Amino acid sequence: MSKFSWDQAFSDGAQYRPMNNFALAKILDEVPKIGKALDIGCGTGDLALQIASFGYDVTGIDGSKVAIENAHSKAIEAGVINHVTFIHQDIDDQDLPTGSYALITAKLVIAFIDYKKLFKKVSASLMHDGVFMVQTPLMVRDVNYPDNDETRHLKRISVDESELSAALNANFKTVEILTTEYSGHWGIDKTYVAKSPSR
Ligand SMILES: C[S@@+](CC[C@H](N)C(=O)[O-])C[C@H]1O[C@@H](n2cnc3c(N)ncnc32)[C@H](O)[C@@H]1O
Repeated sequence: MSKFSWDQAFSDGAQYRPMNNFALAKILDEVPKIGKALDIGCGTGDLALQIASFGYDVTGIDGSKVAIENAHSKAIEAGVINHVTFIHQDIDDQDLPTGSYALITAKLVIAFIDYKKLFKKVSASLMHDGVFMVQTPLMVRDVNYPDNDETRHLKRISVDESELSAALNANFKTVEILTTEYSGHWGIDKTYVAKSPSR
């Protein structure tokens, strides 16, 4: 999907399902307490604000100007603007600082970006014992998907489960599946938690 259509989607009020607070708390249990967080493809900032509510300073990056403006307004309204920064930036073009973040998250975004390149950058950008969370819809290799509107949409917003798993295992020492959720007839979403960059 192009950057223009994301702006259009957010102008039309697009919203995506929220991160389960219990799952987030479980992830944060394992994240170093001192350190910053980064949310990649932050959209209108809900996850970044949720992470900030646990006491982290958070940066959100998104390629949609409309989403970033919206996120910034929400942070002002929530009174946490001193703890969150939202940046309008294409993540495919953005280098990340080395050894910096305690937590990096990418929720419902990796299907739209060069995620294999991203994982290398994320791995280098996590501090010691830092945690990377990826949540994404998946296509499963041994399933025979029918060709219809639902599965064509699914293809646009998903990544191949086996390729994703290989890319995570190539860049991180431990990879766990924290949640598996089913939606519609064919949809499956997983939340992965990866740790200890493999340097
Ligand atoms: C489905 S939305 C999810 C937004 C948010 N993570 C959430 O869960 O509510 C996908 C987001 O990825 C962003 N995005 C897509 N390609 C991007 C890129 N190359 N760089 C930065 N953000 C991108 C879009 O602007 C959009 O906000």
